[in-house]
Amino acid sequence: MKEKDILQLMQKMTLEQKLGQMSLCEFGDLMQNSDNAFTGPKGEFALTASQKKIVGGVLNFKGAAEMIELQKKHLEEDPNKIPLLFMMDVIHGYVTAFPIPLALSCSFDTKLAEHVARASAVECATGGVKITYSPMADLMRDARWGRVMEGYGEDPMLSARMSAAFVKGYQKNVDPRFVVGGCAKHFACYGAAEAGRDYNCVDLSDYTMNNYYLSGYKACVDAGVMMVMTAFNSLNGAPCTGNMMLRRKLREEWGFDGVVVSDYNSVAEMINHGYAKDLREAAKLAIQAECDMEMVSTSYLQTGASLVESGELTMEQIDRSVYRILSLKNKLGLFENPYGAADVQAEKKYYRCPDFLALARSAAAESAVLLKNEGVLPLKKKEGIALIGPFADSKEIIGGWSCNADNKLAVTVRTGLEEAGAKFTYAAGCGDALDETDTSGIEEAVKAAQESETVLLCLGESMRYSGECKSRTDLTLSPAQQELFRHVYAVNKNVVVVLFQGRPLDLRAVLDAPAIFTMWHPGTEGGRACADLLFGKCNFGGKLTMSFPYCVGQMPLYYNHYNTGRPFDPAGNLAEWKSKYIDAPNAPLFGFGYGLSYSKFVCRDVRLSSETLRAGEKLRVAVKVKNDSDVDGSEVIQLYIRDEAASRIRPVRELKDYKKIFLKAHEETTVEFFLEKKDLAFWHEGGQVYAEEGEFTVFVGNDSAALNFKKFVYIA
Ligand code: BGC
Repeated sequence: MKEKDILQLMQKMTLEQKLGQMSLCEFGDLMQNSDNAFTGPKGEFALTASQKKIVGGVLNFKGAAEMIELQKKHLEEDPNKIPLLFMMDVIHGYVTAFPIPLALSCSFDTKLAEHVARASAVECATGGVKITYSPMADLMRDARWGRVMEGYGEDPMLSARMSAAFVKGYQKNVDPRFVVGGCAKHFACYGAAEAGRDYNCVDLSDYTMNNYYLSGYKACVDAGVMMVMTAFNSLNGAPCTGNMMLRRKLREEWGFDGVVVSDYNSVAEMINHGYAKDLREAAKLAIQAECDMEMVSTSYLQTGASLVESGELTMEQIDRSVYRILSLKNKLGLFENPYGAADVQAEKKYYRCPDFLALARSAAAESAVLLKNEGVLPLKKKEGIALIGPFADSKEIIGGWSCNADNKLAVTVRTGLEEAGAKFTYAAGCGDALDETDTSGIEEAVKAAQESETVLLCLGESMRYSGECKSRTDLTLSPAQQELFRHVYAVNKNVVVVLFQGRPLDLRAVLDAPAIFTMWHPGTEGGRACADLLFGKCNFGGKLTMSFPYCVGQMPLYYNHYNTGRPFDPAGNLAEWKSKYIDAPNAPLFGFGYGLSYSKFVCRDVRLSSETLRAGEKLRVAVKVKNDSDVDGSEVIQLYIRDEAASRIRPVRELKDYKKIFLKAHEETTVEFFLEKKDLAFWHEGGQVYAEEGEFTVFVGNDSAALNFKKFVYIA
């Protein structure tokens, strides 16, 4: 369809039909023809049967058959024959579940992220999805927040690169039938919810917001993301769905002309925030803020016409949104082919096809992070093993919000080991509930540990405790799991702790184990990937993208913090009156960028091409990296900078670039980076982004605590 055809179509539409396009409902609600069919808390938003015929979009449906059925029904009923836009939360895969996004970010591999997104797009497009509510570009610094599993960690640059890679994977498919629109969410700063409590208010200075929190969304917009979702939270005093400051940023400053969708019911929730006095005012505020589509609450349809009649909203405001929505549908080819790639036969071909399962398996191995290894791993023998723990034979390791993936088809560690030909005894030991009180299984586990050479102890956090509305105030392993560890470790010191988790946890209780690694929630193929790593078929290469705390009291915790006027140096003598805790260290247990491997990578001899960097020039930073081991492997070499003195305080370190390299055993190479003016720049009050003259330190190494450094001076 041409632009003029969209405009022509709009001329035919009544105001109510336009407001219909701006509304989106649940599949189940649209399938019912009766009036007021919504039940429960949605009762107040019920639509009449005739309103349902004109809505613009739908979410939460299952596969091609449902999609085709509803689209057909809709096209028969909608007076303008405008196809519905089908949307879903495809967070880490559709039917094949890939590692949760937080896990995948630990691969530091944007190509891998792109492949995963592309595979997800093929599956979900076949199932009728046209927009996925992903990526979640929210920056996260607080592991208490359950939704950290959906994002890409605490670093703004990495999180931005990962988010953009997902957008690219969804939207830039070689086969146009499988193009799925991405939706960057949650605009904005949802990850900074106060005290890590979900939906909580956010208060951030412009400085912090612009330098850290907004970069993920901006990267998505720059990558051409088709949709942006507003956030539940208020930001500096105004709920995001009706926040004019955000409109200015997104539309005027960044030039985003795609569709903005509210979060689930977030238009109506502006009443609870105390920002709108009723639904009518909520609709007005949201439309004024250019939130084009309302998800689930129906204030636009119910009150939009009266707002236009009274002159509180103009027809231009409505038309602007409708134009964007119709343009998006057009871009996705819906007017020519309302069913897209939805196809029941193709579902059989693509769902869980061998290529996608293989990708899920290698992605899970690439996302795992080895935290400790005192010569135990990889396991030398496939026998004499006790497999213990509540996650040893659990399918719940697939990870929360795994869309249409069937949990029952997830591969457990137990199955992974069996398939790898391992001989082991198995005992769960205890259940996975946070408040588990039944520890009667520990006896059997202890017996298995006693009779084995090596114990694989699968502990962590169930997927039931991570995701939306799963905030925690305690990040330790459950008391039952801690007890299990103590008893098992008492009889067999050769314990490998294998963790499954959706967020960083306080691991002090298991630190004595000679080997610890995390698989996160690895998706469908987790058990196989775990076996691949245990027996050395795959090497570890993942690095943490969120710091693992010493204890929950350190939250929020992130490596790129400021120094304070009284920085604490644990090695220094003047420990008093410094910025520190009296009962815990400042440092995380395992920091950002950290992760071991079966290889040993040594970085040395950092060299700069000059001691000065001038605007317009490039500074070459080179470092020698040697794989000082007998095992081939990959490593993420990381480059951080520190602006020593500036007009605003700068972080102690900021990741500016990284290279993931592969080195054969004993191989040595030189890794090069190039720094230029833009890498030193930061956002200043008033919106200007520029670098300030002066001294910088550049650190290069294996993690955010890298010791190798050099200094240079920037001259504008
Ligand atoms: C979540 C969004 C999600 C939406 C639709 C909300 O509760 O915050 O991330 O896309 O539901 O399922």
